[in-house]
Amino acid sequence: MFTINKNYLKLPGSYLFSDIARRIAAYQNANPEKEILRLGIGDVTQPLAPAIIEALHGAVEEMAHAETFHGYAPDRGYGFLREVIAKMDYQDRGCDIEPDEIFISDGAKCDSGNIQEILGMENKIAVCDPVYPVYVDTNVMAGRTGLYDQKTQSFDGVIYMPCTAENDFVPEFPKEKPDVIYLCFPNNPTGGTITKPQLQEWVDYANKNGVLIIYDAAYEAYITEEELPHSIYECEGAETCAIELRSFSKNAGFTGVRLGFAVVPKKLKAEGVSLNDLWARRHGTKYNGAPYIVQKAGAAVYTEEGQAQVKEQVAYYMRNAHMIYHDLKAAGYSVYGGVNAPYVWLKTPGNQTSWEFFDTLLNQANVVGTPGSGFGAHGEGYFRLSAFGTYENTKKAIERIIKM
Ligand SMILES: Cc1ncc(COP(=O)(O)O)c(C=O)c1O
Repeated sequence: MFTINKNYLKLPGSYLFSDIARRIAAYQNANPEKEILRLGIGDVTQPLAPAIIEALHGAVEEMAHAETFHGYAPDRGYGFLREVIAKMDYQDRGCDIEPDEIFISDGAKCDSGNIQEILGMENKIAVCDPVYPVYVDTNVMAGRTGLYDQKTQSFDGVIYMPCTAENDFVPEFPKEKPDVIYLCFPNNPTGGTITKPQLQEWVDYANKNGVLIIYDAAYEAYITEEELPHSIYECEGAETCAIELRSFSKNAGFTGVRLGFAVVPKKLKAEGVSLNDLWARRHGTKYNGAPYIVQKAGAAVYTEEGQAQVKEQVAYYMRNAHMIYHDLKAAGYSVYGGVNAPYVWLKTPGNQTSWEFFDTLLNQANVVGTPGSGFGAHGEGYFRLSAFGTYENTKKAIERIIKM
């Protein structure tokens, strides 16, 4: 008789966004006349930029003719895309990253979930708390953790690094030494950032202790403060201790198109084995690549026209973030993030729990956000508002919150 992977049974029942959807549906059924405004899920709303659409059409046309048809993509992704990424995202910023250190994928969620496959089962992972849930859940599925403790809202065998207003949402080095550390800056959900000297300390710590950092830079395009690092490879020595993950979802609206990449430097080794070789083996065996059409669309992001257009979209969302942050602050809320990230993280007023504030907001303002506790125990008492809506709806939602 076949059996199942029982590690999946360790995962707590319902997913945050299903819980949210259920509560919204219940409210809307009871109040069909109410208009609910959503500042919840972190999905983009603007259409793909014209340069990207043009590249997509062009690539589709190529697929229609035998002379220009493309079948399976090269394992690591097309050279035309890896080369422009290496140049514009890394070399132009002073980072020594080559095209053969870049692996094109269908997004940072998949990469952040899959990357643990090339690591030993005995590795102990450390994550920020609150955290993007994929890092923990995929290690749970793999069997790298113990059971979930409902009371502490944490898994045995995982090191949680609290990120709160007290430490400006940048973790301190954990007391217990981990083997793998997941960092994400600008951060989802807190919108927090890390300075280059702070990140350099993590790189030094990792090199000194034989730790691997998995650095999720999915939101780097939202950085507005010039001195902040866009890549971990801006820090000295990062290529011997870090893998970086990037996405086309938030900078160019590819959430439904799917494209991302992982950077696995050739200097990154463990037990004398190159992680670049291991990831190449994994990629070659289990993945047949992002579609040619999508990789052409990705390359269009790096053209002069594409760059100008995607920057404009990011600026549109950041105008929302700026407004959410400043209007709520002026109304007396304690707000964080929002300056280098499309998320504003606020302290729930009057000591409400995150879910109590969710219900208050839904019932009194008909606005939906995301309860901070859904991202981890230290998210309790916080709430995430996303800047990915239209300006008009976002403005209306914030006005309603302020009037509550
Ligand atoms: C921190 C973080 N990483 C990765 C992703 C997913 O990126 P992608 O759409 O490329 O899979 C998200 C999406 O919300 C995210 O917040």
